[in-house]
Amino acid sequence: MRLALPLFLVFEGIDGCGKSTLCARLHEHYAGESLPAVLLREPTDGIWGRKIRDMLQGPELPDAAEQVRLFLMDREHDVENNILPAIRHKRMIFMDRYFYSNAAYQGAGGMSPEDILQENLGRGFPLPHRVYLLDLPPQAALDRVSARQGGSKHDLFEKTEFLQRVRDHYLAMADDRFCVIDARGPVEDIFNAVCADIEREFGTK
Ligand code: TYD
Repeated sequence: MRLALPLFLVFEGIDGCGKSTLCARLHEHYAGESLPAVLLREPTDGIWGRKIRDMLQGPELPDAAEQVRLFLMDREHDVENNILPAIRHKRMIFMDRYFYSNAAYQGAGGMSPEDILQENLGRGFPLPHRVYLLDLPPQAALDRVSARQGGSKHDLFEKTEFLQRVRDHYLAMADDRFCVIDARGPVEDIFNAVCADIEREFGTK
């Protein structure tokens, strides 16, 4: 199967949806077929991304507006140094989170998801060809991650409520560019569904 390149594919979903495992598996698969595949993620491993990861592990988060500012700095650096060069070199990009995370998560933190999307688009960040949204209920996602560890019932309730808002924002953003996938099943089924969609949408025979 030949694919029309470049191909910029974004993977989104709530924490614990399985997208990092899926991205790694897809990258390995297409790179193994000699396609020029690259794997990227946000927050990145650059200076802003490291600052963000420290912030996420810290005792208290700054307000949503400050979070947006940091994610935008990280994304600006990522677009310039990683995404645009990969597009110019006609690569196949597997992107673990992009500005849809910004709208869904900081939207769940109280800001307007529409304003966050506009802010990102206004900066000229390239639109992906496709967004795979791995959708599942927060409870199922939390069962997979260690969020329960050490947390009280109250923490778990808050986390579930927050992720439900994130999920609702994602689903509200899902236009024709999105392919929404039921992520409750085994990773192999999700992998097959994504590969089939890629071939249907971008295969050139
Ligand atoms: P995640 O992909 O879960 O990283 P890892 O599993 O490697 O730690 O991303 C970390 C968190 O960052 C995740 O909870 C979502 C959040 N996030 C935002 O809130 N806004 C954004 O713009 C991005 C890219 C991520």
